[in-house]
Amino acid sequence: MAQKLAAGNWKMNGTEASLAEIDAMIAAFPAPGCKVLICPPATLLDRLSTRAEGSAIATGAQDCHMNASGAHTGDISAEMIKDAGGTYVILGHSERRTDHGETDEIVNAKTMAATGAGLIAVVCVGETLEQRDAGETLDLVGTQLAGSIPEAVTGQNLVVAYEPVWAIGTGRIPTIEQIAEVHDFMRARLVERFGAEIGNAVSLLYGGSVKPSNASEIFAVANVDGALVGGASLKAADFGAIIDAL
Ligand code: G3H
Repeated sequence: MAQKLAAGNWKMNGTEASLAEIDAMIAAFPAPGCKVLICPPATLLDRLSTRAEGSAIATGAQDCHMNASGAHTGDISAEMIKDAGGTYVILGHSERRTDHGETDEIVNAKTMAATGAGLIAVVCVGETLEQRDAGETLDLVGTQLAGSIPEAVTGQNLVVAYEPVWAIGTGRIPTIEQIAEVHDFMRARLVERFGAEIGNAVSLLYGGSVKPSNASEIFAVANVDGALVGGASLKAADFGAIIDAL
């Protein structure tokens, strides 16, 4: 049985003042009914982790390098994320795949580095609108799952997020049937490849314009174990309502 997870991705948003939102979340949810994760920008990870220590909120980063250390200006390693108090890392987000040319091969190497260092990897997959309109969604998601996830994962160190690119930050979401189809497909692929014990233990998140107003119907879908939330994770009230719905 996969763990329920409400994950917030702050993307390139947040400064010292944003930490007040964490205080509000900690106060509002001393014992949430699901796992709660916030991935702030790297500049805030240490501060946010310190703030969340002892609370029910886990923290993580939005990317890591595939190497442990070295001459990689601007990058951070999995070990550095741990050192800053993070326990998760988002990998292969479509914004990284687009803005930084990250391929499945690169995401795979990063996932190896992250899980090898003891982090939980949140691997993102999802189609563009053109791919959906061309009927390529399941093929694409299958290819991304096969290519981005290394052999050596367990049900405890892997989370998969299905994020249709066209639903991110747009206010549009797929139909409930479309979400169900992709999530059932991902579960089946993971079980086929890793066996039932691991495949069924991986939390499958939906991401893309999740709001307090649509969270309940999305969370009612079989094989949706939670959400990867962008914009609505920036405010404690909105993210709190999503946590409540899960
Ligand atoms: O990582 C989060 C997703 O990209 C979703 O972002 O909730 O702002 O649409 P959004």
